[in-house]
Amino acid sequence: MTLPEIDERPDLHDEAETWSVDQLRAHQLERLQSCVRRAYDGVDHYRRRLDAHGVHPDDITSLDDVRRLPFTTKADLRDNYPFGLFAVPREQCVRVHASSGTTGRPTVVGYTQGDIDTWATLVARSLRAAGTRPGDLVHVAYGYGLFTGGLGAHYGAERLGCTVVPMSGGQTDKQIQLITDFGPRVIMVTPSYFLSLVDAMTEKGIDPADTSLQIGVFGAEPWTEGMRAEIEQRCQMHATDIFGLSEMMGPGVAQECVETKDGLTLWEDHFYPEIIDPITEEPLPDGEEGELVLTAMTREAMPVLRYRTRDLTRLLPGTARPGMRRLAKITGRSDDLMIVRGVNVFPTQIEELVLATPGLTPHFQCILTRPGRMDQLTINVEGEPGLGSEDRNRLAGELGKQIKDRIGTTAQVVVLAEGGVERSVGKARRIVDQRDA
Ligand code: DLL
Repeated sequence: MTLPEIDERPDLHDEAETWSVDQLRAHQLERLQSCVRRAYDGVDHYRRRLDAHGVHPDDITSLDDVRRLPFTTKADLRDNYPFGLFAVPREQCVRVHASSGTTGRPTVVGYTQGDIDTWATLVARSLRAAGTRPGDLVHVAYGYGLFTGGLGAHYGAERLGCTVVPMSGGQTDKQIQLITDFGPRVIMVTPSYFLSLVDAMTEKGIDPADTSLQIGVFGAEPWTEGMRAEIEQRCQMHATDIFGLSEMMGPGVAQECVETKDGLTLWEDHFYPEIIDPITEEPLPDGEEGELVLTAMTREAMPVLRYRTRDLTRLLPGTARPGMRRLAKITGRSDDLMIVRGVNVFPTQIEELVLATPGLTPHFQCILTRPGRMDQLTINVEGEPGLGSEDRNRLAGELGKQIKDRIGTTAQVVVLAEGGVERSVGKARRIVDQRDA
């Protein structure tokens, strides 16, 4: 497989990308101090919390002092709905975004003009790290609206000097038409929806390897190395990972560099990372897997101290950008952990095995039920087009055995015909919990 060549352009890097670790730490300390100060002075919630913890902004004299600060959780955002965590008058915010909030109140985030500027700069930096260059045509298929994906991608691509096609999610036929007619070099979309696009192209007789696309900037949901290999082979393009969350800003908190594809460089000049044990809340050393905790050091409208992301990952030393640490590919969210007959299972583990089984497609869902006292896991996965029932049964047996051997739990596998698994135009729903039904 030969993927398109990408010219490395270190001359285009932001200054922060060239900082040494020492330079970076000095900037981080300054930014952390001012962030704690802004949170304390501007937000009642933080002032009360810090006072209750016996910490004052003046106590932050080294980066290790971050550990003295209380954590912030999604519940804190909900409790202060809608604008209670803003550190500036609402009038100074030029935009708000909000999470869909499957239950109860959505979580709201606000941005000053300065925040929007920083965000655009960081998405532009991310796009550059992925291999995008000024002048490229960028097709944005992340959803536009309250979700941060579309607009975040959009402003960043414009900032880099690209031509943006603000397609948003959905309208699969239209997506394919515009990709075919406009010839974008770069696409920004969730990896699961991208696969749906690729399937739809194949159905129309278009070979996805023949499109103009050379670079994918895929994120907003966990995806695996197996998925990368599948996309790169089928489409002859680079598949890179972008991470972010609305509570910090949106997409562009971390991005994989195309020259190494070894995890996501965390833009540490703006976000201070820690990894903690999710149960004991104790900090873990770099290299160990745990829950990612982030502090948004430079946000003006909404500084966020020690936000518990629920995302499970590891912090690794810098490579392509030596001064900044990397996040290992996210294993999943702690909320997505399924405990099946005492064994811990993440959808990403299932994804790896599905992709390693020839004859199966990457479209799958994990269905949790509780027929008696114990939870049962059923994997619904689509087989490749044209398989007969005998083949489907054989593949179900193979995947079931792999799950038993590799993960150590029993799952019932059902291989469905094409279109048998629900598709999403944004984040895929990997877990369907029917235990209360
Ligand atoms: O998903 C922001 C985003 C948009 C990121 C587009 C990348 C591309 P939220 O809707 O607030 O924001 O969801 C954030 O999505 O805590 C992770 O659990 C998950 N997530 C985001 N990116 C990745 C990724 C956007 N690259 C939540 N790998 C996060 C794994 C990801 N999970």
